[in-house]
Amino acid sequence: MDYFEIEGGRRLSGTVTASGSKNAALPILFATLLCPAKVRLRKVPRLHDIKTTLSLLEGVGARVSREGETVEIELAKLSSTEAPYDLVRTMRASVLMLGPLLAREKSARVSLPGGCAIGSRPVDIHLTALEQMGAELKLEAGYIVGNCPRGLRGAEINFRFPSVGATQQIMMAASLAAGRTVIRNAAREPEIENLGGFLRAMGAKISGDGTAEIVIDGVPALSGAEFEVMFDRIEAATLLLAGPITGGSTRVQGMETDCLEAFLGVLRKSGVAVNSGEGWVEAAAGAASHGADFETQPHPGYPTDLQAQMMAFLAQANGISRVSETIFENRFMHVPELVRMGADIRVEGGQAVVHGKPGCYQGTTVMATDLRASASLVLAGLVAKGTTRVRRIYHLDRGYESLESKLSSLGGAVVRKPE
Ligand code: UD1
Repeated sequence: MDYFEIEGGRRLSGTVTASGSKNAALPILFATLLCPAKVRLRKVPRLHDIKTTLSLLEGVGARVSREGETVEIELAKLSSTEAPYDLVRTMRASVLMLGPLLAREKSARVSLPGGCAIGSRPVDIHLTALEQMGAELKLEAGYIVGNCPRGLRGAEINFRFPSVGATQQIMMAASLAAGRTVIRNAAREPEIENLGGFLRAMGAKISGDGTAEIVIDGVPALSGAEFEVMFDRIEAATLLLAGPITGGSTRVQGMETDCLEAFLGVLRKSGVAVNSGEGWVEAAAGAASHGADFETQPHPGYPTDLQAQMMAFLAQANGISRVSETIFENRFMHVPELVRMGADIRVEGGQAVVHGKPGCYQGTTVMATDLRASASLVLAGLVAKGTTRVRRIYHLDRGYESLESKLSSLGGAVVRKPE
């Protein structure tokens, strides 16, 4: 198991390029299950979760080839409709195989997901919606077993919560279903629009993605396509924090501000100077830093995937910040580790009260507990006095492409080492 060794206290400055988005690439890769012809995807990041997804696709008969960031997939005929536990257990998004398999093959056997240990993370919204579309689902020995002998049919679906995964699941399933599907209270994350763009490129009839109501008119078949995955807004934002947290500045190119407005708003409130131009954003440490309150919310609200990283930043700013987590229970697992590094953060229910203090962090050995928590520990390590070792970085490798090289290129001293 690798760990990161970080020599803190260096000022990070310079320009880095954002990678393709993990959270956009995963559903797009699963959507290739819908189509028998060759699909070519650009800007697919080299990450552990992507490898798992490609293995899941190969497991049902897909021919997959990869050159750099371009991946080609061809699934002329399925040899299986199963997503086995051994692959699914590491990645909750594997449940996204269910809808496409049911839509194309009328049957599926998908292990119940594992993934990050953040809260209970049920999939009831996915299952209820697929049942409304005519799927018969049962749970058998840890697997969701689905059948729809007469095929899926369009339905009017009202989500009780705008789940990102469930919205993607139903967009994919409905693309090949008979008739019209309407999703109300749909998630509006930019990754949903990116999936919509890909499905349309394959010939799907979808409108309204990016709004709370998505309309999908099923078509009998989809065709091959070439498509580029959007930039990773979570990685980009993490890199934007790396400059200012060390008193420096970072410019991230290959990104736009419009899908990160809530994050950039909090960043500005905390005293960071944010500038942007066509295809780039820059964040520079301001003259003084301040506390800033925020609450995680579905898009366009503040993203839960950037809660831990912003908290790491606010803990070393001047003043008190109140951070509320409303999307996932149990998503403050980074707090005890940040506290061990010297932060003053008190969790009360779903709220963390951060008593910010410049210079609070001291290097020590800390344990990554989930993907985004790991990133917060790395950010704290960059500004800590002395050496920080972040263990269990396999969590980071699920979602950040060569983070150590990107941070090193900005002047950080971050080295990957084997245990
Ligand atoms: C996606 C992202 C993840 C991000 C999350 C919220 C991917 C691969 N992952 O996860 O990084 O943190 O969006 O922005 O894109 N819920 C239910 N029942 C369901 C589905 C969800 O109760 O059927 C709950 C979950 O337990 C959670 C909340 O809804 O508390 C949000 O889940 P959801 O929006 O579905 O997130 P994911 O798609 O899993």
